[in-house]
Amino acid sequence: MLLVTGVNGGLGSLVLERLAGRPGGPEGVLAGSRTPERVTVAGVPVRKVDFDRPETLAEAFTGVRTLLLVSAGYGEDDVVIARHRAAIEAAERAGVEHVVYTSLSGDGDHLAYALAHRWTERRLRESATLRWTILRNGLYAELLAFLARPDADGVITAPLADGRLAAVAREDLAEVAAKVASAPAEHAGRVYELVGEEAVGAADVAAALTRTTGRPVEYRPGALAQARAAIAASGAESFQVPMVAGTLSSIAHGFLAGPGKPGDLAALLGRTPRPALEVIAAGTDAAW
Ligand SMILES: NC(=O)c1ccc[n+]([C@@H]2O[C@H](COP(=O)([O-])OP(=O)(O)OC[C@H]3O[C@@H](n4cnc5c(N)ncnc54)[C@H](OP(=O)(O)O)[C@@H]3O)[C@@H](O)[C@H]2O)c1
Repeated sequence: MLLVTGVNGGLGSLVLERLAGRPGGPEGVLAGSRTPERVTVAGVPVRKVDFDRPETLAEAFTGVRTLLLVSAGYGEDDVVIARHRAAIEAAERAGVEHVVYTSLSGDGDHLAYALAHRWTERRLRESATLRWTILRNGLYAELLAFLARPDADGVITAPLADGRLAAVAREDLAEVAAKVASAPAEHAGRVYELVGEEAVGAADVAAALTRTTGRPVEYRPGALAQARAAIAASGAESFQVPMVAGTLSSIAHGFLAGPGKPGDLAALLGRTPRPALEVIAAGTDAAW
């Protein structure tokens, strides 16, 4: 059995859709979530999976051979690491053979949230019993759409300077995760860097939104300090402030622009990745 965790999240839900729609049907697939009652994909048995309740994981992982461990949300490092530790220890005890883990791309090493991902990768490598595959996901196009969203006047003020992000469509990452988890033996011991081929900046986002919506969108980059203050004032939790500000700064200063050529993403998809700007334009509701 293949168990996918976090299926009510943006990534996990897309993975589950793909697995349920594969040619052989959803047979052999299990869905895991903290809120099983919200899972609506037909033909897939659902189990309650909450890494904050390690005592429940033995039952949740019974009979599972492959675990697609979707990294568990946001939090302070100690919280996220405790979740991932609980998941991996329970997988080892339950006799899971292979864990596929959704991590963060290597170029994101200096981001605040990289530490918990790297801890989890190391823990998997050190496992005496598990085979593993690490999917180092780049930052989503959907995330860039959020970071570079226009205000009510159609102005993008994110402090992204002329930096660019090798943004990836979340759907592409889901497609890769579903493929790899369906045939894990072929990918054992592999670390895949899944970043976009084409880097896009806030000026590109403004132009794409202008084209798509017919409303003029302008990019007038603000200062990082202003953005940090706005994030803090928005009711964000304290750990989220450096998380978001650091992401903006990393894009602005060119750390996440990608290699600019086809890599693991295109190879695993077997096609050209979806253009990030297409994803961003399709996702906008022009509600600014
Ligand atoms: N590459 C990027 O740009 C990017 C952006 C945002 C996040 N991420 C990371 O990638 C992961 C998946 O992205 P996403 O878009 O699906 O994020 P999301 O929509 O925010 O979903 C969060 C995920 O975390 C799971 N989760 C949270 N707490 C959990 C717990 N205690 N036990 C088990 N599962 C738990 C949720 O599962 P249920 O609700 O189904 O239980 C859900 O799948 C995120 O959790 C985050 O680590 C990456």
